[in-house]
Amino acid sequence: MNQLTGWMISNGGLKTQKYMESLGLYEKAARELGIQLEIIFNHEIVIGIQESVLFIHGGLITKLPDFVLFLDKDIRLAYQLERLGLRVFNSSKVIAVCDDKSQTFQELAYYGIPMPKTLIAPLVFQGMKEDSMVYIEGIEKELSYPIVMKESYGSFGEQVYLVQNREELMAKRSQILTKPHIYQEFIGSSKGRDVRVNIVGGQVVAAMLRTSSTDFRANISNGGQMQAFTPPQSFKDLSVKVCAIIGADFAGVDLLFGEKGEPIVCEVNSNAHIKNIQLCTGINVAAFILQYILKELRDDTSLACLP
Ligand SMILES: Nc1ncnc2c1ncn2[C@@H]1O[C@H](COP(=O)(O)OP(=O)(O)O)[C@@H](O)[C@H]1O
Ligand SMILES: [Mg+2]
Repeated sequence: MNQLTGWMISNGGLKTQKYMESLGLYEKAARELGIQLEIIFNHEIVIGIQESVLFIHGGLITKLPDFVLFLDKDIRLAYQLERLGLRVFNSSKVIAVCDDKSQTFQELAYYGIPMPKTLIAPLVFQGMKEDSMVYIEGIEKELSYPIVMKESYGSFGEQVYLVQNREELMAKRSQILTKPHIYQEFIGSSKGRDVRVNIVGGQVVAAMLRTSSTDFRANISNGGQMQAFTPPQSFKDLSVKVCAIIGADFAGVDLLFGEKGEPIVCEVNSNAHIKNIQLCTGINVAAFILQYILKELRDDTSLACLP
């Protein structure tokens, strides 16, 4: 029987200790499941198109794997691998939708998913300035202060801001004017508090409550404290539903607390880091992810030769 082989693709610029420990959790789970999982950083692969044909080159590449565990957000690379016929978990489409916070909310619309009221900033080209108050007035008609501003692409709470009045809004808007961003209703009942629910293959596998007494953002890397949490059924159901709508194989869903304690979707992380949840709950989410991938590949009848 052939050993199943996978590439675990990560970003070459992201080698923090915690991140490398996360990768270690995948390696451990792979060893236990008998999967040969190779870490590849995105800059170690050269992709392109030549004479109308897609290609993939790189010193490390001798043979294509049975699957790709895509932990990077390099959606062009993920798409190239898909076009070359590889099974990529999560897909490039899912990563793109989750990476762009405005697109996540657009995708979730029409399914009755509770989410903060969200405005999507108009595109402003590089180097351009704003010479009228029209859009500022538009924001103020739709939302009341304080208002949450988020760059569409961001992580660890670092690109999420809370503005209290027009002056702060204008100052922050001018700083991020040409970056895609959103304006959002502030869910005051969830100040400094949120829930991370890890979903794999439509199942809740772990959850933690994150709280901060010093900041409205509950991210751990921003000073939040974590504790293992058994989410109410409504939190579980919402996280599962959101992943199903987006088509995520696995994800870390962030939920806020509404006024009556009901869950409200904050964001969906297709590339959630799994070290903190392991520290907090003892659960290695990687084991669930790899077991799920095994099952998906076995269910794929075109790969009937798999063990
Ligand atoms: N609309 C909101 N109302 C209240 N708190 C929010 C809101 N949006 C985000 N937060 C807080 O800020 C944190 C970071 O926001 P999030 O959208 O998850 O961005 P990131 O991708 O940087 O984690 C959340 O975990 C939550 O604590
Ligand atoms: Mg988050």
